[in-house]
Amino acid sequence: MTDHVSVLLNEAIELLNVREGGTYIDGTLGRGGHSRKILERLGKGKLYCFDLDEQAIEESKKVLKGYDNVVYIHDNFMNMNKYVKEADGIILDLGVSSPQFDEGDRGFSYRYEGPLDMRMDRSSGLSAYEVVNTYRKEDLVRILYDYGEERSAVRIADAIVKARASKPIETTLELVGVIKEALPQKTLSKKGHPAKQTFQALRIEVNHELDSLSCFLSNFNQILAHKGRAVIITFHSLEDRMVKRRFRELSTVEDDKRVFKLPEEIEKAEYVLVNRKAVVPGEEEIERNPRAKSAKLRGIERL
Ligand SMILES: C[S@@+](CC[C@H](N)C(=O)[O-])C[C@H]1O[C@@H](n2cnc3c(N)ncnc32)[C@H](O)[C@@H]1O
Repeated sequence: MTDHVSVLLNEAIELLNVREGGTYIDGTLGRGGHSRKILERLGKGKLYCFDLDEQAIEESKKVLKGYDNVVYIHDNFMNMNKYVKEADGIILDLGVSSPQFDEGDRGFSYRYEGPLDMRMDRSSGLSAYEVVNTYRKEDLVRILYDYGEERSAVRIADAIVKARASKPIETTLELVGVIKEALPQKTLSKKGHPAKQTFQALRIEVNHELDSLSCFLSNFNQILAHKGRAVIITFHSLEDRMVKRRFRELSTVEDDKRVFKLPEEIEKAEYVLVNRKAVVPGEEEIERNPRAKSAKLRGIERL
């Protein structure tokens, strides 16, 4: 099994500003990379770890076996308010881990043969097979445009509908074949794998990734303590835009400059951005771990 190389590891932990004895949440446990760094600084504090993938939890228990102050929760991070009343810091490192991506039978990868699954939580929910074989063409087009930013969405959706009319599309590489057939040579010869955007779109749909993030962004402020920080690593522009917008919203107050106010009457924002510009990986990290390439890290602090 492939190991997961944590992205922006030191930068994210630095931004989280872990305080000894505090309560922290890792919403995307993965293989425990960020969690381990938090635990090294946490002393007697408590760490709550969430993952939708039971295998991620089981593997991380091995990685973090020396620590007895970890609570493992097999649930969506958007439900963290149900389990934790107050946290000094929350970290999210979105998307899939390398082991999920590299194990053919999970169905996430356009490089390896496997069933069209793509569910992070294999115990429930719709798989990519159902999306590919049962969604209406218009819905496929919408998903490919919205979640994959795929310019050839119509062509690809057309080809999927045509192919599945004779027999369901069952595997990752079958789907890759359908996508490749649908695209003109000009597009195929461009940099990057021709199925990348489609696979990203399907994965986001299957796991309701943007809904989870949106729900988290609306609610995390209810549990973040005074001086607490939330830091998020995103991997594509759709997610980063959502994070950037919400963090900006929380850290600014609408102030009507035409109305005179005494200094004590001036409303102050409850949050401050920890970094104005997103932190991105350096060349050395990208070379060592090409999956880090599109990562962006943002943080916010409660005042
Ligand atoms: C990029 S990996 C995290 C890697 C981790 N930070 C590390 O260094 O080992 C993302 C993990 O988050 C999980 N995940 C993604 N979305 C989730 C959600 N909404 N709720 C809970 N877990 C989620 C995935 O199953 C995956 O294991």
